[in-house]
Amino acid sequence: MQPYQPKPAAGSPPYVIAHRGISGKAPENTVAAIRLAVETPGIDMIELDVRLSKEEEVIVLHDRTLQRTTTGNGRARTYTVEELKRFDAGSWFHPKFNAERIPTLLEVLQVVNKRRWINIEIKSDMFFREPRGLIERKVLDVVERSEYRSHVLISSFHHELLVTLRQMDTSIPLGVIYNIYRDFGKMPSKLAGQCNASVFVCAKHELTRSMLADARRHNIASYVYTLNSPKDVQKIMNLEVDGILSDNADDVVRQVKGPLVAF
Ligand code: G3P
Ligand code: MG
Repeated sequence: MQPYQPKPAAGSPPYVIAHRGISGKAPENTVAAIRLAVETPGIDMIELDVRLSKEEEVIVLHDRTLQRTTTGNGRARTYTVEELKRFDAGSWFHPKFNAERIPTLLEVLQVVNKRRWINIEIKSDMFFREPRGLIERKVLDVVERSEYRSHVLISSFHHELLVTLRQMDTSIPLGVIYNIYRDFGKMPSKLAGQCNASVFVCAKHELTRSMLADARRHNIASYVYTLNSPKDVQKIMNLEVDGILSDNADDVVRQVKGPLVAF
C-alpha cells in the first residue's frame, strides 16, 4: 500500500475506513474484525482505539472497562497483557468468536502488515489521567518499531495529547476529533492548528457546511463517523467529505466505489 495521504486524489471517492475493524460483522477491535477489513478489497483504512495495560503496553480496546466487550470486569489499565489475554473478547458478539482476545497494537500492525492504513485513536480514562507524554510515547514507539510511520494517522478527542505528540514528532499525521460540547463554534482550522493536524474528524450530525468549507480552505481533510446506512452514506457523499468511517465498511465500499475485483 502507498504511504498514507490525508486526502484522496482529486476526483477520487472518499476513503472508506473500517470503524473498529468490520465491527458490524465481527467483534470490534479484535483481530477477527481487523482481518475482515484487510480481506475486503477497496477498504483504505482501519480505525482502532488504544489505551494502556498495567505494564504500559498499548492495547486495542475502546472502553476503559472490560465488561461490555470481554468476559473480564473492571478497568483494563489494572491488568497486564497476560492477564487480559485470559478474557474472551468475542463471545459477547457471537459464540463463534470465542477465541478472540484483546490484541496489542503491535500484534495488529503485524497482522495488517501495511496492507491497509491504520487510524490509531488514542483513548483516555477520565478517572485515571495518564502522566503527560506516556501513552503518546508508547504509541509512537510501537509505530516506529513496526515501521508503520508512513501508514498511520493518529487521532484523539483529547487534543492535549495531540499537542504533546506533535512536540515529540514533527511530521506524523494527526487527526483532531470534534467534541460538540467542548468545541461547539470552533472551526476545524482552529482545532487542527493547535497541533498541526491534517485531518478533522466529526460525527455525521455534527458536520456543517461552514465547517466543511473551512477545512477545505485550509487543506484539512474531513472524515465523518459512523455511517452505517446507505442513506447516511449518500447524504455525506453529496457533501464531498474525504473519509467515511463505518461499522460496515465492506458495504460502504460497494456503495462508494462500485464492484471491485480482489487485489
Ligand atoms: O474516530 C472516530 C470515532 O471512532 C470516535 O468515536 O467512540 O467510536 O471511538 P468512538
Ligand atoms: Mg474510535
